Amino acid sequence: MKTIGDLGDLRGKRVLVRSDLNVPLDGTTITDDGRIRASAPTIRMLTEMGARVIVCAHLGRPKGEPDAQYSLAPVAKRLGEVLGAPVTFAEDTVGPSARSAVEHLKEGGVLLLENLRFNPGETAKTDEGRAEFAQALASLADVFVSDGFGVVHREQASVYDVARLLPHATGGLVEAEVNVLRRLTRDPQRPYAVVLGGAKVSDKLGVIGNLLGTADRLIVGGGMVFTFLAAKGLEVGKSLLEADQIDTVKGYLERAEKGGVEIVLPADIVVADAFSADAAHDVVAVDAIPADRMGLDIGPESSRRFAEKLSDCRTVFWNGPMGAFEMAPFAAGTKAIAQALAEVTRDGALTVVGGGDSAAAVRQLGFADTDFGHISTGGGASLEYLEGKELPGLTVLDGDADDRAGDA
Ligand code: 3PG
Repeated sequence: MKTIGDLGDLRGKRVLVRSDLNVPLDGTTITDDGRIRASAPTIRMLTEMGARVIVCAHLGRPKGEPDAQYSLAPVAKRLGEVLGAPVTFAEDTVGPSARSAVEHLKEGGVLLLENLRFNPGETAKTDEGRAEFAQALASLADVFVSDGFGVVHREQASVYDVARLLPHATGGLVEAEVNVLRRLTRDPQRPYAVVLGGAKVSDKLGVIGNLLGTADRLIVGGGMVFTFLAAKGLEVGKSLLEADQIDTVKGYLERAEKGGVEIVLPADIVVADAFSADAAHDVVAVDAIPADRMGLDIGPESSRRFAEKLSDCRTVFWNGPMGAFEMAPFAAGTKAIAQALAEVTRDGALTVVGGGDSAAAVRQLGFADTDFGHISTGGGASLEYLEGKELPGLTVLDGDADDRAGDA
């Protein structure tokens, strides 16, 4: 993969940077700016090289047309604050506002385009469907830098097709993320534990299958754990359950046993009578979940058990909260895992927190980024990497853009 240094002298050049600035918003207030802060160093480096930096990104999942609630305007403001330099904001992606802003962009200046997904060509499923938009984006710039790690698993115009049209390089964030994740897949220091949580087991089936070949321990909590409990024949009451995944999970439990992978499940659960912060709640043993209640967090005994299973690990990957951490009564399990990771990090283990939800959770619960070895900006992307899938946004960077540009 080429890096920015391989692009030669960038002074005065128009550099299109794909970043992942998909941050959580409450109205127009950014509730976690982690992805903006993680994207800033590459942008700053390019401005210091005298490039004219055109940043492009998406926010949420608008339906291929402008939708004010998904505007990147608040992100432009925050990016300017993080960079400590003005950021011009274009009110469209490849239209008159963007073109005029690029024309007026000075050496070392930064421009952010409006949400790429306001254009149907960004996410179209076919090469032909994306071609026109990709050409229009590419025509704004001289070179392309791919730095949106959180979207490298998407075959989208600004991630994949533009790299085939312009000389390109891998940005520092993508490089750093890939270097860390590679350490998890190639000869991790042992014991190696993976902690999985979050709502849906079906989102994580691929990664679980793959991890059964590499991890020593798989620790499971969050909404997805109830499908594991059901697979072991336990009643889960009104908890989240993906009944159609029970057989697959049973298969995983058998494979884990045969392969010597330890699957660690909760001993107790915090159950409530509604999904609400003020719902009545109790701790019950995992085999005593009442039929009319739902599990919203792992219980204190489980937190202790999970922390103990992490305490001697040399490598830990964590994706997905242990419970409904946004509500104070159900945050303790997630906090206990974050605490256990922070402790093994201090002891020298490599710890990686993957995914928007887990990253937001640890910050919301008062942990610092430095408490962990690495906080990945990619949720789906880091899981797909660990699954061993080919990520289009990475494979396209291995190709030679200069040669391919003629074919496109
Ligand atoms: C993410 O939030 O994981 C990335 O920004 C990708 O977003 P998407 O899942 O909407 O493609």
